[in-house]
Amino acid sequence: MAGESDKPENTLSCANCGKPANLQCPKCMELKLPREGAAFCSQDCFKSSWSSHKSVHLKAKLSPPGTQNSDSLDEGWLYCLKRGQARTPKLPHFDWTGPLQPYPISSKRIVPDQIDKPDWAGDGTPKIEPNSSLQHTIEVKTPDQIERMRETCRIAREVLDAAARIIQPGVTTDEIDRVVHEATIAAGGYPSPLNYHFFPKSCCTSVNEVICHGIPDARKLEDGDIVNVDVTVYYKGVHGDLNETYFVGNVDEESLQLVKCTYECLEKAISIVKPGIRFREIGEVINRHASMSGFSVVKSYCGHGIGELFHCAPNIPHYSRNKAVGVMKAGQTFTIEPMINAGVWRDRMWPDGWTAVTADGKRSAQFEHTLLRLVLKF
Ligand code: MF3
Ligand code: CO
Ligand code: CO
Repeated sequence: MAGESDKPENTLSCANCGKPANLQCPKCMELKLPREGAAFCSQDCFKSSWSSHKSVHLKAKLSPPGTQNSDSLDEGWLYCLKRGQARTPKLPHFDWTGPLQPYPISSKRIVPDQIDKPDWAGDGTPKIEPNSSLQHTIEVKTPDQIERMRETCRIAREVLDAAARIIQPGVTTDEIDRVVHEATIAAGGYPSPLNYHFFPKSCCTSVNEVICHGIPDARKLEDGDIVNVDVTVYYKGVHGDLNETYFVGNVDEESLQLVKCTYECLEKAISIVKPGIRFREIGEVINRHASMSGFSVVKSYCGHGIGELFHCAPNIPHYSRNKAVGVMKAGQTFTIEPMINAGVWRDRMWPDGWTAVTADGKRSAQFEHTLLRLVLKF
């Protein structure tokens, strides 16, 4: 018990007896809880209400920041709803498929004026990308484009490594987003996801049963979680896109196997990439390895062409018997990013319009690289 009030005109009444109170519960102050209901007239009143009052602290710790009091709501912590819909202080109603639920998200991060931005940075709408002929024809990059892609992809790798270094139990996915945002800007880049079709954050963080496009929020990572961090950087007019799934503390055996298998799926897919191979072959290789290990392959989200556009042709499914068109040529750049599920392949979408989760609530893992295949000339 501490904190004698120095503003007698602001008198609160004792939560125990109703008399004027000028003592504040120190725990409530630490948790930034409202002063009403946390004020007492004397040590005696504080002590006699302790057994009932202390439950306030427990409740505050269980509910995520942003739902505790109006102060933190003013700081912009709100639940995300579909594009165009206002954010909300209340958890939306949904038939959650697994243990994970959304937490409030922080307000928008700022990108300095000097940084060169893609055309969606201002108003959330990509203008060049959807109308480009590169949605249908696969571009062969020029040596200059290739050089810029290398620089951008190197930055993206370093940004992802910076994010990976802070991952541990107790860290929120919003804190991961802050590291990604700041490291990207420090390198002179723009975090491509920020405001892409109104995506509210600078990277995607996908925990446990989240397949992809998880929005960084106030949830603290827990021992035993798996978390994918997906980073895309825009620098010198081109995008570089990669992601990895990390272990938080000690994870169970099935999660270990799932993440290992997903990593191997990407490695095996990369190993067949060379001019003359059909893009549809990638899905055969991935599906074979995943199903051999008793896991399933997500069908709703695919790899993609990348360069001056974030997403363009070719479309690269990760599952077998897909109908992807095209044959690989030297100088093309595209991603491979298999999402592998411990249970069923089917996905569902959260009310935020972004977060893809497994239909059965079991875990999902993903790894992604941006690829360039060049033929060595002798
Ligand atoms: N990085 C993701 C990909 O691999 C795309 C994220 S778009 C976002 O294609 F808007 F969700 F961030
Ligand atoms: Co991608
Ligand atoms: Co990505």
